[in-house]
Amino acid sequence: MAEPVTTPRTAPRTARTHAPATTGPALLIQLHVFTDCDDVPPVVDAVRGSGLDAAVYENVNDPRGIAVLFATARADDLLDRVRPLLRAAPFRSFTPVPSFTMLGRTYLVGHETDAEEVLLHRPRVRVLSPELRWVVWYPLRRAGIFERLPLDEQRIALREHGTAGAEFAATGLAQDIRLSCHGLDANDNDFVIGILGPELPPLSALVERMRKTIQTSMYLEKLGPFFVGRVLWQAAK
Ligand code: HEM
Repeated sequence: MAEPVTTPRTAPRTARTHAPATTGPALLIQLHVFTDCDDVPPVVDAVRGSGLDAAVYENVNDPRGIAVLFATARADDLLDRVRPLLRAAPFRSFTPVPSFTMLGRTYLVGHETDAEEVLLHRPRVRVLSPELRWVVWYPLRRAGIFERLPLDEQRIALREHGTAGAEFAATGLAQDIRLSCHGLDANDNDFVIGILGPELPPLSALVERMRKTIQTSMYLEKLGPFFVGRVLWQAAK
């Protein structure tokens, strides 16, 4: 994988929102979904041959469906390396499902002590972890009203969310990858979420658990579509 060229930093918080802006490189993660795939080994060969950090998934909800997830710190890779790969055999004989295409970038919340770990290493390790065999990837959009809440109320909702997520993560049943996709997709989503774990049912239970939080029940306008799959192949970590 191409290494990032500079060290990420957190920019000063702005007076109006106290929201930190991320400068420097982020990891870009993109999911491409295809159907009409009857022969999977050539997919693995092609993706392996690309040398990109990637994972190939079988779509549990489509017996002819596959997906490929790419992770790179260089946006140019998406056009210079991913695009030619997906325009060539074997992908050119499959049917793309663009309504499931997702693209997001890692970002900082603001209290992280090791920005490089959060932005570049941890999400990559999770994408490439053989233990995290099952995945659910989906985009979501916040309700506009969330952005108009006083900061304290935003923090309360997000803290409840973070606590619920952390309790779940502590069981080892699910890990999350959260990506900002502001301005990066066709549908004006705010985030792309990946939840990854050794088994599928706990991932569903995590989504169910999040439904009960203030953040999800009151401040998310829409979620999905949901891609649900199992890892068929991952690049070496
Ligand atoms: C303190 C750490 C965390 C922060 C700051 C955080 C932040 C976020 C953000 C910004 C979103 C987008 C939705 C929104 O906030 O409007 C989100 C969604 C989500 N996060 Fe977290 N998260 C954290 C921990 C976790 C953990 C540990 C898990 C599970 C292992 C998790 C699972 C999810 C899920 C499943 C969603 C999608 C919302 C849903 O399906 O209801 N999060 N998170």
